[in-house]
Amino acid sequence: MKEDIVVSLAWEEDMRDIWEWRNHPDIRKNFFNTAVVPWDEHQRWFERKISDSRCRIYIARRGEEKVGVIRFEAEGDGAQVSVHLNPACMGQGLGSRVIRAGTEQFLKEIGAITVIARIIKGNLASVKAFAKAGYRRFSEDKDVLTYRYPDDF
Ligand SMILES: CC(C)(COP(=O)(O)OP(=O)(O)OC[C@H]1O[C@@H](n2cnc3c(N)ncnc32)[C@H](O)[C@@H]1OP(=O)(O)O)[C@@H](O)C(=O)NCCC(=O)NCCS
Repeated sequence: MKEDIVVSLAWEEDMRDIWEWRNHPDIRKNFFNTAVVPWDEHQRWFERKISDSRCRIYIARRGEEKVGVIRFEAEGDGAQVSVHLNPACMGQGLGSRVIRAGTEQFLKEIGAITVIARIIKGNLASVKAFAKAGYRRFSEDKDVLTYRYPDDF
């Protein structure tokens, strides 16, 4: 039986893992900003985000193992989501499970609003993971696909 994915709010002790994962070449190549983020900059960013009431960063665990991170930023009536896995946990279909667990938790905490994912075209693993988690394609421009949850919003 598959072990459940459980999400909980990220805290100081998660800061270094998130930084290391984010800077891994297989992870950052899919981001809008592909540059390596220096530790000081990450620390300042992380402290700001975890004390921002409009932002939720969740660490996803499978048992004791940290498998990924998912962040939601509320904007107006909606929110934007961003996700990446622990690079050691990629390629096992965990992305969709992290996205589903994180989205459910976020909507429960924040109330019924819509969530938007902006995905660079060509990031097929991300497209499939969001689709499998229940997000639906909403719009598209030259370089970016927008997926939305829930799809009946
Ligand atoms: C996006 C991400 C969370 C998905 O993680 P994952 O679940 O490990 O992804 P997988 O490798 O299992 O791939 C998910 C699906 O896409 C498919 N896939 C992966 N790469 C693919 C490719 N190049 N072409 C076609 N399909 C591909 C997989 O076969 C799998 O399909 P399945 O669900 O039918 O089995 C993870 O890749 C990640 O952290 N990426 C870096 C950061 C990122 O891109 N974040 C999203 C920004 S919007």
